[in-house]
Amino acid sequence: MINWDEFEHIHVIKKLRHILASWWNVDVIFTDERGVVKGFDPVKTVFANPAVGHLIQKDVAQQNLAEFVLKTIDELRMSDNRYAIKKWDLAGFDIGIFPISIDSDLMGTVVAMGFFKDSNEGQRPHEVRDRLAAFGGSGELIEQSLGKLKYLDDDGRSHFSQVVSLVAEEVVTLHLEITRREDRIRELNKELGSRYKYDNMIGKSKPMQALYGLLDKIKTADTTVLIQGENGTGKELIAKAIHYNSPRKDRPFVIQNCSAFNDNLLESELFGHIKGSFTGAIRDKKGLFEVADKGTFFLDEIGDTSPTMQVKLLRVLQEGTFTPVGSTEMRKVDVRIIAATNRNLKEMVEQGTFREDLYYRLNVINIRVPPLRERKEDIPLLAEFFLQKASEANGGPKRIMTKRALEKLYDYAWPGNVRELQNEMERLVVLAGEETKILPEMMSPKIIEAGERSKVQGARLQGKLKDALEDLEREMIKEGLRRTGWNKSKLAKELGISRAGLIMKVEKYGLDKRRMARSS
Ligand SMILES: Nc1ncnc2c1ncn2[C@@H]1O[C@H](COP(=O)(O)OP(=O)(O)OP(=O)(O)O)[C@@H](O)[C@H]1O
Ligand SMILES: [Mg+2]
Repeated sequence: MINWDEFEHIHVIKKLRHILASWWNVDVIFTDERGVVKGFDPVKTVFANPAVGHLIQKDVAQQNLAEFVLKTIDELRMSDNRYAIKKWDLAGFDIGIFPISIDSDLMGTVVAMGFFKDSNEGQRPHEVRDRLAAFGGSGELIEQSLGKLKYLDDDGRSHFSQVVSLVAEEVVTLHLEITRREDRIRELNKELGSRYKYDNMIGKSKPMQALYGLLDKIKTADTTVLIQGENGTGKELIAKAIHYNSPRKDRPFVIQNCSAFNDNLLESELFGHIKGSFTGAIRDKKGLFEVADKGTFFLDEIGDTSPTMQVKLLRVLQEGTFTPVGSTEMRKVDVRIIAATNRNLKEMVEQGTFREDLYYRLNVINIRVPPLRERKEDIPLLAEFFLQKASEANGGPKRIMTKRALEKLYDYAWPGNVRELQNEMERLVVLAGEETKILPEMMSPKIIEAGERSKVQGARLQGKLKDALEDLEREMIKEGLRRTGWNKSKLAKELGISRAGLIMKVEKYGLDKRRMARSS
Protein backbone atom coordinates (compact mmCIF):
# COMPACT_ATOMS: atom_id res chain seq x y z
CA MET A 1 0.00 0.00 0.00
CA ILE A 2 1.28 3.40 -0.90
CA ASN A 3 1.42 5.97 1.86
CA TRP A 4 0.17 8.93 -0.15
CA ASP A 5 0.63 11.49 2.57
CA GLU A 6 4.37 11.09 2.27
CA PHE A 7 4.47 12.35 -1.28
CA GLU A 8 3.05 15.75 -0.51
CA HIS A 9 6.34 16.64 1.10
CA ILE A 10 8.82 15.12 -1.29
CA HIS A 11 10.92 17.80 -2.89
CA VAL A 12 11.01 16.26 -6.35
CA ILE A 13 7.27 15.84 -6.49
CA LYS A 14 6.67 19.34 -5.24
CA LYS A 15 8.95 20.58 -7.95
CA LEU A 16 7.24 18.60 -10.69
CA ARG A 17 3.89 19.84 -9.51
CA HIS A 18 5.17 23.36 -9.54
CA ILE A 19 6.34 22.98 -13.13
CA LEU A 20 3.00 21.61 -14.27
CA ALA A 21 1.26 24.44 -12.50
CA SER A 22 3.45 27.24 -13.76
CA TRP A 23 3.73 26.10 -17.37
CA TRP A 24 0.30 24.75 -18.06
CA ASN A 25 -1.78 25.78 -15.01
CA VAL A 26 -2.33 22.10 -14.51
CA ASP A 27 -3.11 20.59 -11.10
CA VAL A 28 -1.92 17.17 -10.06
CA ILE A 29 -3.68 14.85 -7.68
CA PHE A 30 -3.17 11.22 -6.75
CA THR A 31 -5.74 8.50 -6.51
CA ASP A 32 -5.40 5.05 -5.07
CA GLU A 33 -6.02 1.93 -7.16
CA ARG A 34 -9.77 2.40 -6.76
CA GLY A 35 -9.69 5.95 -8.03
CA VAL A 36 -10.17 7.52 -4.61
CA VAL A 37 -8.44 10.89 -4.26
CA LYS A 38 -5.49 10.62 -1.88
CA GLY A 39 -2.77 12.49 -0.15
CA PHE A 40 -3.76 16.09 -0.26
CA ASP A 41 -5.76 18.54 1.69
CA PRO A 42 -8.26 20.27 -0.62
CA VAL A 43 -8.63 23.10 1.86
CA LYS A 44 -4.93 23.88 2.28
CA THR A 45 -3.80 23.22 -1.28
CA VAL A 46 -3.34 26.16 -3.61
CA PHE A 47 -4.69 25.22 -7.01
CA ALA A 48 -3.23 26.35 -10.31
CA ASN A 49 -6.77 26.40 -11.63
CA PRO A 50 -9.52 27.32 -9.17
CA ALA A 51 -11.94 25.12 -11.12
CA VAL A 52 -10.06 22.04 -9.94
CA GLY A 53 -10.16 23.19 -6.33
CA HIS A 54 -13.84 23.93 -6.63
CA LEU A 55 -14.81 20.58 -8.13
CA ILE A 56 -12.55 18.28 -6.16
CA GLN A 57 -14.18 19.30 -2.91
CA LYS A 58 -17.53 17.97 -4.09
CA ASP A 59 -18.36 14.38 -3.25
CA VAL A 60 -20.19 13.97 -6.51
CA ALA A 61 -17.14 15.06 -8.46
CA GLN A 62 -14.85 12.77 -6.48
CA GLN A 63 -17.14 9.81 -7.08
CA ASN A 64 -17.43 10.63 -10.71
CA LEU A 65 -13.67 10.95 -10.98
CA ALA A 66 -13.16 7.58 -9.30
CA GLU A 67 -15.45 5.91 -11.84
CA PHE A 68 -13.79 7.75 -14.66
CA VAL A 69 -10.33 6.72 -13.50
CA LEU A 70 -11.34 3.07 -13.13
CA LYS A 71 -12.92 3.01 -16.55
CA THR A 72 -9.85 4.59 -18.07
CA ILE A 73 -7.56 2.09 -16.39
CA ASP A 74 -9.60 -0.75 -17.87
CA GLU A 75 -9.27 0.82 -21.29
CA LEU A 76 -5.56 1.25 -20.84
CA ARG A 77 -5.21 -2.43 -19.95
CA MET A 78 -6.70 -3.29 -23.33
CA SER A 79 -4.39 -0.96 -25.20
CA ASP A 80 -0.70 -0.34 -25.58
CA ASN A 81 -0.92 3.14 -24.18
CA ARG A 82 0.71 3.92 -20.88
CA TYR A 83 -1.55 6.82 -20.07
CA ALA A 84 -4.72 8.51 -21.28
CA ILE A 85 -5.55 12.12 -21.98
CA LYS A 86 -9.31 12.50 -22.12
CA LYS A 87 -12.13 14.87 -21.63
CA TRP A 88 -13.64 14.70 -18.17
CA ASP A 89 -17.28 15.26 -18.98
CA LEU A 90 -18.19 16.37 -15.51
CA ALA A 91 -15.82 19.34 -15.77
CA GLY A 92 -15.73 19.94 -19.50
CA PHE A 93 -11.95 20.20 -19.58
CA ASP A 94 -9.39 17.48 -20.22
CA ILE A 95 -7.43 15.42 -17.74
CA GLY A 96 -4.49 13.07 -18.00
CA ILE A 97 -4.60 9.76 -16.17
CA PHE A 98 -1.25 8.08 -15.56
CA PRO A 99 -1.31 4.72 -13.79
CA ILE A 100 1.25 3.99 -11.09
CA SER A 101 2.18 0.31 -11.20
CA ILE A 102 4.72 -1.78 -9.39
CA ASP A 103 5.46 -5.20 -10.89
CA SER A 104 2.31 -4.79 -13.02
CA ASP A 105 0.20 -4.29 -9.89
CA LEU A 106 -1.81 -1.12 -10.08
CA MET A 107 -1.03 1.01 -7.03
CA GLY A 108 -2.85 4.18 -7.99
CA THR A 109 -2.82 6.97 -10.51
CA VAL A 110 -1.53 10.44 -11.09
CA VAL A 111 -4.28 12.66 -12.44
CA ALA A 112 -3.30 15.94 -14.09
CA MET A 113 -6.26 18.24 -14.62
CA GLY A 114 -7.24 21.45 -16.23
CA PHE A 115 -6.32 21.92 -19.90
CA PHE A 116 -7.54 21.29 -23.44
CA LYS A 117 -5.74 18.50 -25.16
CA ASP A 118 -5.87 20.14 -28.60
CA SER A 119 -5.16 23.58 -29.88
CA ASN A 120 -8.40 23.73 -31.91
CA GLU A 121 -11.14 23.13 -29.41
CA GLY A 122 -12.72 26.55 -29.57
CA GLN A 123 -16.20 25.65 -28.36
CA ARG A 124 -15.02 23.82 -25.22
CA PRO A 125 -14.79 26.83 -22.87
CA HIS A 126 -18.59 27.15 -23.07
CA GLU A 127 -18.97 23.64 -21.82
CA VAL A 128 -16.64 24.31 -18.90
CA ARG A 129 -18.57 27.48 -18.11
CA ASP A 130 -21.85 25.54 -18.01
CA ARG A 131 -20.43 22.73 -15.86
CA LEU A 132 -18.82 25.03 -13.34
CA ALA A 133 -22.03 27.04 -13.09
CA ALA A 134 -23.96 23.81 -12.52
CA PHE A 135 -21.58 23.03 -9.68
CA GLY A 136 -22.23 26.38 -8.06
CA GLY A 137 -19.11 28.19 -9.26
CA SER A 138 -19.36 31.98 -8.99
CA GLY A 139 -19.02 34.16 -12.07
CA GLU A 140 -15.64 35.28 -10.90
CA LEU A 141 -14.40 31.75 -10.32
CA ILE A 142 -15.60 30.71 -13.75
CA GLU A 143 -13.87 33.57 -15.55
CA GLN A 144 -10.66 32.97 -13.65
CA SER A 145 -10.75 29.27 -14.39
CA LEU A 146 -11.39 29.77 -18.08
CA GLY A 147 -8.49 32.18 -18.29
CA LYS A 148 -6.23 29.47 -16.91
CA LEU A 149 -7.16 26.64 -19.27
CA LYS A 150 -4.41 26.19 -21.84
CA TYR A 151 -4.58 24.45 -25.20
CA LEU A 152 -1.86 21.94 -25.75
CA ASP A 153 -0.40 21.39 -29.21
CA ASP A 154 1.51 18.24 -30.18
CA ASP A 155 4.75 19.44 -28.63
CA GLY A 156 3.08 20.74 -25.52
CA ARG A 157 1.22 17.48 -25.06
CA SER A 158 4.38 15.46 -25.37
CA HIS A 159 6.26 17.59 -22.83
CA PHE A 160 3.29 17.60 -20.54
CA SER A 161 2.98 13.82 -20.53
CA GLN A 162 6.70 13.48 -20.02
CA VAL A 163 6.53 15.48 -16.82
CA VAL A 164 3.44 13.72 -15.49
CA SER A 165 4.99 10.33 -16.28
CA LEU A 166 7.96 11.45 -14.28
CA VAL A 167 5.68 12.13 -11.33
CA ALA A 168 4.30 8.59 -11.59
CA GLU A 169 7.79 7.11 -11.85
CA GLU A 170 8.89 9.17 -8.90
CA VAL A 171 6.04 7.86 -6.75
CA VAL A 172 7.09 4.29 -7.53
CA THR A 173 10.75 4.88 -6.76
CA LEU A 174 10.02 6.71 -3.57
CA HIS A 175 7.53 4.11 -2.49
CA LEU A 176 10.15 1.41 -2.96
CA GLU A 177 12.67 3.50 -1.08
CA ILE A 178 10.30 4.03 1.81
CA THR A 179 9.40 0.35 1.90
CA ARG A 180 13.07 -0.61 2.01
CA ARG A 181 13.62 1.80 4.83
CA GLU A 182 10.67 0.46 6.74
CA ASP A 183 12.04 -3.05 6.29
CA ARG A 184 15.31 -1.87 7.70
CA ILE A 185 13.61 -0.33 10.71
CA ARG A 186 11.60 -3.52 11.23
CA GLU A 187 14.85 -5.48 11.02
CA LEU A 188 16.35 -3.21 13.67
CA ASN A 189 13.31 -3.62 15.86
CA LYS A 190 13.71 -7.38 15.81
CA GLU A 191 16.93 -6.82 17.69
CA LEU A 192 15.10 -5.21 20.55
CA GLY A 193 15.15 -6.85 23.93
CA SER A 194 12.42 -6.89 26.53
CA ARG A 195 13.90 -4.46 29.00
CA TYR A 196 13.64 -0.89 27.93
CA LYS A 197 14.75 0.81 31.10
CA TYR A 198 17.29 0.56 33.87
CA ASP A 199 16.86 3.26 36.45
CA ASN A 200 16.94 6.47 34.43
CA MET A 201 18.57 4.81 31.50
CA ILE A 202 16.48 4.08 28.49
CA GLY A 203 17.18 1.74 25.62
CA LYS A 204 15.92 -1.55 24.19
CA SER A 205 18.82 -2.33 21.90
CA LYS A 206 20.96 -5.42 22.28
CA PRO A 207 23.99 -3.44 23.49
CA MET A 208 21.83 -1.83 26.16
CA GLN A 209 20.40 -5.19 27.20
CA ALA A 210 23.93 -6.47 27.60
CA LEU A 211 24.76 -3.39 29.63
CA TYR A 212 21.75 -3.94 31.94
CA GLY A 213 22.83 -7.55 32.43
CA LEU A 214 26.31 -6.46 33.37
CA LEU A 215 24.99 -3.81 35.76
CA ASP A 216 22.88 -6.43 37.48
CA LYS A 217 25.94 -8.55 38.02
CA ILE A 218 28.18 -5.85 39.41
CA LYS A 219 25.79 -3.79 41.44
CA THR A 220 26.21 -5.72 44.68
CA ALA A 221 29.96 -6.12 44.40
CA ASP A 222 32.39 -3.50 45.61
CA THR A 223 34.62 -3.63 42.60
CA THR A 224 36.06 -0.62 40.86
CA VAL A 225 34.43 0.14 37.54
CA LEU A 226 35.84 1.93 34.54
CA ILE A 227 33.26 3.38 32.16
CA GLN A 228 34.42 4.33 28.71
CA GLY A 229 32.36 5.97 26.04
CA GLU A 230 32.02 8.99 23.80
CA ASN A 231 30.60 12.31 24.94
CA GLY A 232 27.01 12.18 26.01
CA THR A 233 26.62 8.39 25.92
CA GLY A 234 25.37 8.27 29.50
CA LYS A 235 28.46 7.45 31.54
CA GLU A 236 27.31 9.48 34.51
CA LEU A 237 23.88 7.90 34.33
CA ILE A 238 25.48 4.47 34.50
CA ALA A 239 27.63 5.44 37.47
CA LYS A 240 24.52 6.61 39.31
CA ALA A 241 22.63 3.44 38.43
CA ILE A 242 25.46 1.36 39.86
CA HIS A 243 25.53 3.33 43.08
CA TYR A 244 21.78 3.52 43.66
CA ASN A 245 21.38 -0.22 43.09
CA SER A 246 24.25 -1.14 45.38
CA PRO A 247 24.28 -1.75 49.15
CA ARG A 248 25.91 1.69 49.40
CA LYS A 249 22.83 3.42 48.05
CA ASP A 250 21.99 5.21 51.33
CA ARG A 251 25.51 6.56 51.57
CA PRO A 252 26.83 9.51 49.54
CA PHE A 253 27.36 9.45 45.79
CA VAL A 254 30.08 12.01 45.13
CA ILE A 255 31.13 13.26 41.71
CA GLN A 256 34.35 14.98 40.83
CA ASN A 257 35.31 16.06 37.34
CA CYS A 258 39.08 15.57 37.28
CA SER A 259 39.68 17.93 34.38
CA ALA A 260 37.91 20.88 35.96
CA PHE A 261 40.75 22.08 38.24
CA ASN A 262 44.50 22.49 38.23
CA ASP A 263 46.48 19.94 40.22
CA ASN A 264 46.68 21.89 43.47
CA LEU A 265 43.04 22.68 43.60
CA LEU A 266 42.06 19.16 42.61
CA GLU A 267 44.27 17.68 45.29
CA SER A 268 42.74 19.86 47.97
CA GLU A 269 39.28 19.11 46.61
CA LEU A 270 39.82 15.35 46.67
CA PHE A 271 41.89 14.92 49.78
CA GLY A 272 41.12 18.07 51.75
CA HIS A 273 43.59 20.36 53.43
CA ILE A 274 44.43 21.63 56.85
CA LYS A 275 44.27 25.23 57.95
CA GLY A 276 47.24 27.31 56.86
CA SER A 277 48.61 24.76 54.41
CA PHE A 278 48.45 27.37 51.64
CA THR A 279 47.30 30.96 51.20
CA GLY A 280 43.56 30.99 51.48
CA ALA A 281 43.37 27.80 53.51
CA ILE A 282 41.76 29.61 56.40
CA ARG A 283 40.29 26.52 57.98
CA ASP A 284 40.49 22.73 57.73
CA LYS A 285 38.60 21.35 54.79
CA LYS A 286 37.30 17.83 54.41
CA GLY A 287 38.22 16.23 51.08
CA LEU A 288 35.65 14.56 48.87
CA PHE A 289 37.12 11.14 49.57
CA GLU A 290 36.13 11.59 53.18
CA VAL A 291 32.71 12.87 52.18
CA ALA A 292 32.29 9.76 50.06
CA ASP A 293 33.27 7.39 52.87
CA LYS A 294 31.11 4.24 52.81
CA GLY A 295 29.62 5.50 49.57
CA THR A 296 30.64 5.73 45.94
CA PHE A 297 33.06 8.17 44.37
CA PHE A 298 32.62 8.92 40.68
CA LEU A 299 35.88 10.18 39.20
CA ASP A 300 34.84 11.70 35.90
CA GLU A 301 37.28 12.46 33.07
CA ILE A 302 39.93 10.34 34.74
CA GLY A 303 41.99 10.46 31.55
CA ASP A 304 42.68 14.13 32.15
CA THR A 305 44.59 13.74 35.42
CA SER A 306 48.28 14.63 35.68
CA PRO A 307 50.99 12.02 36.43
CA THR A 308 51.35 13.34 40.01
CA MET A 309 47.65 13.04 40.65
CA GLN A 310 47.65 9.57 39.11
CA VAL A 311 50.14 8.43 41.76
CA LYS A 312 47.98 9.77 44.55
CA LEU A 313 44.87 8.16 43.16
CA LEU A 314 46.67 4.87 42.79
CA ARG A 315 47.44 4.92 46.49
CA VAL A 316 43.80 5.46 47.43
CA LEU A 317 42.83 2.62 45.17
CA GLN A 318 45.46 0.24 46.51
CA GLU A 319 45.35 1.03 50.18
CA GLY A 320 42.33 3.21 50.74
CA THR A 321 44.62 5.84 52.23
CA PHE A 322 45.51 9.44 51.43
CA THR A 323 47.00 12.48 53.10
CA PRO A 324 45.23 15.85 53.17
CA VAL A 325 47.25 18.79 51.79
CA GLY A 326 49.57 20.18 54.43
CA SER A 327 49.05 17.24 56.74
CA THR A 328 51.35 14.40 57.67
CA GLU A 329 48.59 12.28 59.04
CA MET A 330 47.24 9.56 56.77
CA ARG A 331 43.50 8.99 56.49
CA LYS A 332 41.72 5.83 55.56
CA VAL A 333 38.38 5.55 53.81
CA ASP A 334 36.08 2.90 52.43
CA VAL A 335 35.01 4.14 49.02
CA ARG A 336 33.86 2.38 45.91
CA ILE A 337 35.40 4.02 42.89
CA ILE A 338 33.78 4.40 39.53
CA ALA A 339 35.87 6.19 36.96
CA ALA A 340 34.86 7.42 33.54
CA THR A 341 36.51 8.86 30.50
CA ASN A 342 35.85 9.52 26.84
CA ARG A 343 39.52 9.05 26.04
CA ASN A 344 41.20 5.84 25.03
CA LEU A 345 43.06 4.96 28.21
CA LYS A 346 44.71 1.90 26.77
CA GLU A 347 46.26 3.98 24.04
CA MET A 348 47.33 6.55 26.61
CA VAL A 349 49.07 3.79 28.55
CA GLU A 350 50.90 2.74 25.40
CA GLN A 351 51.93 6.32 24.77
CA GLY A 352 53.07 6.70 28.36
CA THR A 353 50.60 9.44 29.31
CA PHE A 354 48.58 7.28 31.68
CA ARG A 355 50.06 5.02 34.35
CA GLU A 356 49.71 1.38 33.52
CA ASP A 357 49.31 0.31 37.17
CA LEU A 358 46.52 2.81 37.71
CA TYR A 359 44.86 1.66 34.50
CA TYR A 360 44.75 -1.95 35.68
CA ARG A 361 43.52 -0.92 39.11
CA LEU A 362 40.66 0.99 37.58
CA ASN A 363 39.87 -1.47 34.86
CA VAL A 364 38.61 -4.30 37.07
CA ILE A 365 35.22 -4.11 35.46
CA ASN A 366 35.14 -2.36 32.15
CA ILE A 367 31.99 -0.91 30.73
CA ARG A 368 32.10 0.31 27.17
CA VAL A 369 29.07 2.42 26.41
CA PRO A 370 28.22 2.12 22.74
CA PRO A 371 27.71 5.36 20.83
CA LEU A 372 24.19 6.04 19.64
CA ARG A 373 25.07 5.35 16.02
CA GLU A 374 25.78 1.73 17.01
CA ARG A 375 22.33 1.33 18.56
CA LYS A 376 20.09 3.31 16.26
CA GLU A 377 17.20 1.10 17.27
CA ASP A 378 17.14 3.05 20.55
CA ILE A 379 16.52 6.33 18.77
CA PRO A 380 12.70 6.20 18.60
CA LEU A 381 12.34 5.38 22.28
CA LEU A 382 14.82 8.03 23.38
CA ALA A 383 13.38 10.63 21.01
CA GLU A 384 9.87 9.99 22.26
CA PHE A 385 11.01 10.11 25.89
CA PHE A 386 12.85 13.43 25.53
CA LEU A 387 10.07 14.87 23.41
CA GLN A 388 7.42 14.22 26.03
CA LYS A 389 9.69 15.33 28.84
CA ALA A 390 10.45 18.61 27.09
CA SER A 391 6.80 19.11 26.17
CA GLU A 392 5.77 18.72 29.78
CA ALA A 393 8.47 21.10 30.97
CA ASN A 394 7.43 23.53 28.27
CA GLY A 395 3.77 23.30 29.21
CA GLY A 396 2.76 22.82 25.59
CA PRO A 397 0.59 20.15 23.98
CA LYS A 398 1.69 16.55 23.61
CA ARG A 399 3.98 16.41 20.59
CA ILE A 400 3.92 13.75 17.93
CA MET A 401 7.02 12.67 16.12
CA THR A 402 6.19 12.19 12.43
CA LYS A 403 7.62 9.22 10.64
CA ARG A 404 9.51 11.43 8.27
CA ALA A 405 11.11 13.30 11.15
CA LEU A 406 12.09 10.04 12.81
CA GLU A 407 13.76 8.89 9.63
CA LYS A 408 15.96 11.96 9.67
CA LEU A 409 17.09 10.98 13.16
CA TYR A 410 18.13 7.57 11.87
CA ASP A 411 20.28 9.05 9.15
CA TYR A 412 22.29 11.32 11.41
CA ALA A 413 25.52 10.11 13.06
CA TRP A 414 25.00 11.77 16.50
CA PRO A 415 28.56 12.74 17.44
CA GLY A 416 27.14 14.17 20.69
CA ASN A 417 25.18 10.97 21.29
CA VAL A 418 22.20 10.89 23.66
CA ARG A 419 22.87 14.38 24.98
CA GLU A 420 22.73 15.77 21.46
CA LEU A 421 19.49 13.93 20.79
CA GLN A 422 18.05 15.32 23.99
CA ASN A 423 19.08 18.86 23.03
CA GLU A 424 17.57 18.43 19.59
CA MET A 425 14.24 17.31 21.06
CA GLU A 426 14.19 20.25 23.47
CA ARG A 427 14.91 22.61 20.60
CA LEU A 428 12.12 21.07 18.53
CA VAL A 429 9.59 21.50 21.30
CA VAL A 430 10.43 25.19 21.53
CA LEU A 431 10.32 25.63 17.77
CA ALA A 432 7.09 23.69 17.40
CA GLY A 433 5.21 26.24 19.49
CA GLU A 434 1.55 25.26 19.34
CA GLU A 435 2.13 22.85 16.49
CA THR A 436 1.71 19.28 17.74
CA LYS A 437 3.43 17.49 14.88
CA ILE A 438 7.20 17.45 14.72
CA LEU A 439 8.14 17.80 11.08
CA PRO A 440 11.56 17.20 9.57
CA GLU A 441 11.70 20.78 8.31
CA MET A 442 11.93 21.96 11.92
CA MET A 443 15.13 20.07 12.62
CA SER A 444 18.65 21.43 12.83
CA PRO A 445 20.25 21.91 9.41
CA LYS A 446 23.00 19.40 10.18
CA ILE A 447 20.41 16.67 10.71
CA ILE A 448 18.44 17.54 7.59
CA GLU A 449 21.62 17.61 5.53
CA ALA A 450 22.74 14.22 6.80
CA GLY A 451 19.38 12.84 5.67
CA GLU A 452 19.76 14.35 2.22
CA ARG A 453 23.24 12.93 1.83
CA SER A 454 22.19 9.43 2.78
CA LYS A 455 19.60 9.36 0.02
CA VAL A 456 21.69 7.91 -2.75
CA GLN A 457 18.50 7.04 -4.57
CA GLY A 458 17.26 10.56 -4.22
CA ALA A 459 20.46 11.92 -5.69
CA ARG A 460 20.15 9.71 -8.74
CA LEU A 461 16.57 10.74 -9.23
CA GLN A 462 17.40 14.37 -8.83
CA GLY A 463 19.95 13.97 -11.59
CA LYS A 464 17.47 12.29 -13.86
CA LEU A 465 14.90 14.89 -13.08
CA LYS A 466 17.34 17.68 -13.76
CA ASP A 467 18.13 16.25 -17.21
CA ALA A 468 14.48 15.79 -18.07
CA LEU A 469 13.64 19.28 -16.91
CA GLU A 470 16.47 20.86 -18.79
CA ASP A 471 15.37 19.12 -21.99
CA LEU A 472 11.90 20.30 -21.41
CA GLU A 473 12.95 23.81 -20.55
CA ARG A 474 15.11 24.07 -23.66
CA GLU A 475 12.20 22.95 -25.80
CA MET A 476 9.75 25.26 -24.13
CA ILE A 477 11.98 28.26 -24.52
CA LYS A 478 12.90 27.43 -28.10
CA GLU A 479 9.29 27.03 -29.05
CA GLY A 480 8.27 30.10 -27.06
CA LEU A 481 10.86 32.30 -28.68
CA ARG A 482 9.68 31.34 -32.16
CA ARG A 483 6.07 31.79 -31.23
CA THR A 484 6.54 35.23 -29.66
CA GLY A 485 8.91 36.39 -32.38
CA TRP A 486 11.77 36.60 -29.87
CA ASN A 487 9.77 38.79 -27.54
CA LYS A 488 11.64 37.89 -24.36
CA SER A 489 9.59 40.05 -22.05
CA LYS A 490 6.40 38.42 -23.20
CA LEU A 491 7.82 34.92 -23.02
CA ALA A 492 9.35 35.50 -19.59
CA LYS A 493 5.94 36.54 -18.35
CA GLU A 494 4.32 33.46 -19.89
CA LEU A 495 6.84 31.15 -18.31
CA GLY A 496 6.62 32.88 -14.96
CA ILE A 497 10.31 33.77 -14.77
CA SER A 498 12.14 37.10 -14.85
CA ARG A 499 13.38 38.55 -18.12
CA ALA A 500 16.96 38.36 -16.86
CA GLY A 501 16.36 34.73 -15.89
CA LEU A 502 15.11 33.98 -19.36
CA ILE A 503 18.10 35.65 -21.01
CA MET A 504 20.42 33.56 -18.88
CA LYS A 505 18.63 30.40 -19.89
CA VAL A 506 18.68 31.40 -23.56
CA GLU A 507 22.43 31.70 -23.31
CA LYS A 508 22.79 28.48 -21.35
CA TYR A 509 20.93 26.51 -24.01
CA GLY A 510 22.49 28.37 -26.93
CA LEU A 511 19.10 29.57 -28.17
CA ASP A 512 19.96 33.09 -29.29
CA LYS A 513 18.42 34.26 -32.54
CA ARG A 514 21.49 34.14 -34.71
CA ARG A 515 22.54 30.69 -33.68
CA MET A 516 19.02 29.33 -34.13
CA ALA A 517 18.82 30.91 -37.58
CA ARG A 518 22.06 29.21 -38.51
CA SER A 519 20.99 25.81 -37.23
CA SER A 520 17.64 25.74 -38.99
N1 LIG B 1 20.32 5.71 27.95
C1 LIG B 1 19.89 6.93 28.30
N2 LIG B 1 18.60 7.11 28.63
C2 LIG B 1 18.15 8.34 28.97
N3 LIG B 1 18.92 9.43 29.03
C3 LIG B 1 20.20 9.31 28.72
C4 LIG B 1 20.77 8.05 28.34
N4 LIG B 1 22.07 8.25 28.08
C5 LIG B 1 22.32 9.54 28.28
N5 LIG B 1 21.21 10.19 28.67
C6 LIG B 1 21.09 11.61 28.97
O1 LIG B 1 22.03 12.29 28.15
C7 LIG B 1 22.72 13.28 28.86
C8 LIG B 1 24.19 12.92 28.93
O2 LIG B 1 24.38 11.81 29.77
P1 LIG B 1 25.65 11.68 30.71
O3 LIG B 1 25.99 13.00 31.31
O4 LIG B 1 25.44 10.53 31.61
O5 LIG B 1 26.71 11.34 29.59
P2 LIG B 1 28.29 11.28 29.72
O6 LIG B 1 28.70 10.08 28.97
O7 LIG B 1 28.70 11.41 31.14
O8 LIG B 1 28.70 12.57 28.89
P3 LIG B 1 30.11 13.37 28.92
O9 LIG B 1 31.11 12.49 28.27
O10 LIG B 1 29.81 14.55 28.06
O11 LIG B 1 30.38 13.67 30.32
C9 LIG B 1 22.08 13.34 30.22
O12 LIG B 1 21.08 14.32 30.21
C10 LIG B 1 21.46 11.96 30.40
O13 LIG B 1 20.34 12.00 31.24
MG1 LIG C 1 29.90 12.86 32.06
